[in-house]
Amino acid sequence: MNPKPHNTVFITGCSSGIGRETAKLFQSKGWNVAATMRNPGAETELNQLQNVICPPLDVTDVNSIQQAVQSTLDEFGYIDVVVNNAGYALMGAFETLDREQILRQFDTNVFGLMEVCRAVLPHFRSRNHGTLINVASMVGRFPLPLYSVYNASKFAVEGFTETLIYELENFNINVKLIEPGATNTHFFGRSSERQNRTGVKAYERYTQKVFAVMDAIGPAGGDSKAAAKTIWRAATEGSTQLRYATGSDAKAFLLARRLLPDRLFNRTIKVSLTPWALNTVGRLFYRPNTP
Ligand SMILES: NC(=O)c1ccc[n+]([C@@H]2O[C@H](COP(=O)([O-])OP(=O)(O)OC[C@H]3O[C@@H](n4cnc5c(N)ncnc54)[C@H](OP(=O)(O)O)[C@@H]3O)[C@@H](O)[C@H]2O)c1
Repeated sequence: MNPKPHNTVFITGCSSGIGRETAKLFQSKGWNVAATMRNPGAETELNQLQNVICPPLDVTDVNSIQQAVQSTLDEFGYIDVVVNNAGYALMGAFETLDREQILRQFDTNVFGLMEVCRAVLPHFRSRNHGTLINVASMVGRFPLPLYSVYNASKFAVEGFTETLIYELENFNINVKLIEPGATNTHFFGRSSERQNRTGVKAYERYTQKVFAVMDAIGPAGGDSKAAAKTIWRAATEGSTQLRYATGSDAKAFLLARRLLPDRLFNRTIKVSLTPWALNTVGRLFYRPNTP
């Protein structure tokens, strides 16, 4: 389905990666775009595009969320689609992460996303129209080693989003989950927090082994443009489909998750995170030197 011209999309976390590509894609299709970001003062590209505004928005700051929604309504009059994309990964063995790190992870990936929903749902209800797209992850449905807190945050996004279907269908509000696999963005760089704040050393050898493989996967992961296309499809195809996996690794692992018993699936993950697997089967999913 081709959308009507001048629909409006509101996206969080547009300074880089999937959010940025999504903003560009919707703009190129003729939509109004509120490409929100924490630091719009540093933006030089998106704010030069026609029908794009870059309101400041930090998902951990409720006032900034309300102001960004209001300035989008002031500029464009309405919002048709919200993409909750902002997020980062807290990584490491659970015992090496302190309470403050864990709260910040949930504040960003879960509570921030909920507050964006809270800010926009009255508008959606008043128009009896709207699509809410929450970016979870393939690891919102299965565990990866050293991702316990990030996994938990994305499992929370999955549970929260799926539950909203019951409440929102009566207001003609569509709900979607995007489940990216490894995607070559800043996610594996500046958006990955790995600081051992508790001083527990017991996991160091294991951690180094697993991180070495993950650090090879990151830059060889899928293209953020492909993830943006999946978000575009979710926003415009007019179906009630809930989940959209994006990336061949996400599709394969999610299929395995459905078919295999837990113990076998966990073994598959364990074997997948070895240099041997990365250099053999991994070549089906991950391309070295992806730009
Ligand atoms: N890349 C992957 O492999 C992958 C896989 C599965 C799911 N995802 C999910 O995809 C989403 C986008 O990540 P990405 O891969 O595009 O990584 P990215 O390039 O690092 O982008 C993350 C974006 O989130 C923003 N952000 C972080 N904390 C924020 C906050 N408190 N308020 C507002 N914005 C904030 C960042 O802004 P700043 O520039 O201000 O830091 C940045 O714009 C995330 O939810 C991530 O969990 C990514």
